[in-house]
Amino acid sequence: VGHIDDVQELRKAKPTTVPERFVRDMTERPALLAFAPSSPCAVPIIDFSKLVKGNKDERQSELLNLARACEEWGFFQVINHGIDLSLLESIEKLSRDFFMLPLEEKQKYPMVPGSVQGYGQAFVFSEDQKLDWCNMFALGLVPPNIRVPKLWPTNPPRFSSTVEDYSSQVRSLCQNLLKYIAMTLSLKEDTFEKMFGVAVQAIRMNYYPACSRPDLVLGLSPHSDGSALTVLQQEKGSPVGLQILKDNKWMPVEPIPYAFVINIGDTLEVLTNGKYKSVEHRAVTHKENDRLSIVTFYAPSYEVELGPMAELVDENKKCMYRRYNHGEYSKHYVTNKLQGKKTLEFAK
Ligand code: SIN
Ligand code: FE2
Repeated sequence: VGHIDDVQELRKAKPTTVPERFVRDMTERPALLAFAPSSPCAVPIIDFSKLVKGNKDERQSELLNLARACEEWGFFQVINHGIDLSLLESIEKLSRDFFMLPLEEKQKYPMVPGSVQGYGQAFVFSEDQKLDWCNMFALGLVPPNIRVPKLWPTNPPRFSSTVEDYSSQVRSLCQNLLKYIAMTLSLKEDTFEKMFGVAVQAIRMNYYPACSRPDLVLGLSPHSDGSALTVLQQEKGSPVGLQILKDNKWMPVEPIPYAFVINIGDTLEVLTNGKYKSVEHRAVTHKENDRLSIVTFYAPSYEVELGPMAELVDENKKCMYRRYNHGEYSKHYVTNKLQGKKTLEFAK
């Protein structure tokens, strides 16, 4: 990705121009009507504190809400998650500070072709592929052998240590959520922990500059996530940008300050034999406002062989996916462009 494809630089140099490579074909353009402010945020909200320390009735009813959210939405927002709010504020501020650095500084950490870590645009594989109106910065965290130390920024000074602190708290949130998700499926609560081994964890910051023609571009192409679970933080005060495909319509996910948006990834869809769905989503841009999101991906260890769990397959529910190695699936995911739920065909 050269200077000319960096959307922040494009925006700075020519604020009213959208180069052809970003202009979507008619059928892919976001219909701006779909996210009129009148449409309420219907994505279920889960009060994590009720799951952890509610009385018996509260725990029961919140587990039921969680089950419904996973089955009917594939998306939910978690409030009262217990992660230090100061950490959420710091990661937002430092991520923003990072994107505001001069291009030369950010390009010290380049996302080279074939890699998904560093600064740049992931999932670009051909000259004729449309580009997303987004700059990304991504880092692998766990297991240690996926870390690329030279891509960890020394500037802003507290960036890297904050990513560490934030990620270790988000990791335990993921572990706890998977425990409750297992319970909604009548599985032992340590089912996923045991199955996943040392789970893979990565973080990605997405920065979407304002765009003079939000009707023509996408911030992020429609896709489902390859993870088991994804934890998304939308910057406080940011405009609605995330949309999910629900009943064939694009629905906005309104940012709730300090809440996390959680979604089911392809891996959990496969493990639950399609009971819990990995839902397609995308990001749109705005004329006046930029937007920042911070995303954590949590997935099984690459060595794990997985497929639909026996408990979710019987005479009535035939097996929807094959068994495969998760490392191979991940590789397949990151070497193909984002295209709806297409990568999941690997598992069929
Ligand atoms: C993502 O799907 O990775 C990010 C979407 C967003 O920025 O809200
Ligand atoms: Fe995503």
